[in-house]
Amino acid sequence: MDTTRLQNHFSFGENWQSFVEEVEEKHIQQAVKSLSKLFPNDDLRGKTFLDIGCGSGMSMLAAVILGASEVNGFDIDPNSVKATQTLFEKYAPEGTIWTVREISVLDKESLPSEKYDVVHSWGVLHHTGDMWRAITNASTLVKEEGLFLVALYRKTPLCSLWKIEKAIYAHSPGFVQKLISLPYVCLYYLRILIGGQRPKDFIETYNNVRGMDFHHDIHDWLGGFPYQSVEPSEVVKNIEKLGFQSKYVYDNCKGTKGFFGTGCDEYLFVRDAKINVAK
Ligand SMILES: C[S@@+](CC[C@H](N)C(=O)[O-])C[C@H]1O[C@@H](n2cnc3c(N)ncnc32)[C@H](O)[C@@H]1O
Repeated sequence: MDTTRLQNHFSFGENWQSFVEEVEEKHIQQAVKSLSKLFPNDDLRGKTFLDIGCGSGMSMLAAVILGASEVNGFDIDPNSVKATQTLFEKYAPEGTIWTVREISVLDKESLPSEKYDVVHSWGVLHHTGDMWRAITNASTLVKEEGLFLVALYRKTPLCSLWKIEKAIYAHSPGFVQKLISLPYVCLYYLRILIGGQRPKDFIETYNNVRGMDFHHDIHDWLGGFPYQSVEPSEVVKNIEKLGFQSKYVYDNCKGTKGFFGTGCDEYLFVRDAKINVAK
């Protein structure tokens, strides 16, 4: 088990547990909408789905709603595993086939022995401390002609500063985290006001791609350590080398300078049956 990494990493799972307690139908609907944007042709129906770094379990639940025959997830953080269990016990339709386990994607020995029609890992592999090894390990879990979806932070000019901020935030007590988040949130509100919206309205209608609410999302961004970011061309080149063909890249970060952080680009690959994949 990759315990050194767990000691170093931000407590994502605590944030997920707190979020899951507040989940409402609108968050689930948002997650379903986002997942169906990524798999628009009913691609999940009847398919086995693996979510690596499942967090709250929201994408797994959305996959069930979109017709996946079986959903499985794993996460390095035991509190994320608990959050997913809580979400599924509360919201999964009866008869859903699902599992969730505590595994690190970097720990090759512990990875599931089976392969999946769809492997999904949204906003995770850049938080492992070894993104390329994590991508390689994740790719081995995709069946021949299966789909591989990853979302990864885009590199910006300010990424090295964010890395320092996250290292400090993730290892600080709650009151220091509040001191760091206060100026960030104030600047964010200012940006909303300049854009002509009232912050209260913005927050009430805030629904990020994963269905997460504003405050949990800010905590997740400020604390998300370890942190890496990458250019889309590098992702496509390196994943194609692992025996995949690129189906699309959703460029979600056009013009991002990194002042308020960065965003995740979304990439879909299909495993090419003709090419040998990484073992
Ligand atoms: C930003 S959250 C994203 C969660 C979820 N995929 C989503 O879209 O909401 C990152 C998740 O990756 C998990 N994670 C980080 N390193 C990991 C690793 N080595 N193996 C598996 N999960 C990991 C964290 O515990 C956390 O739950």
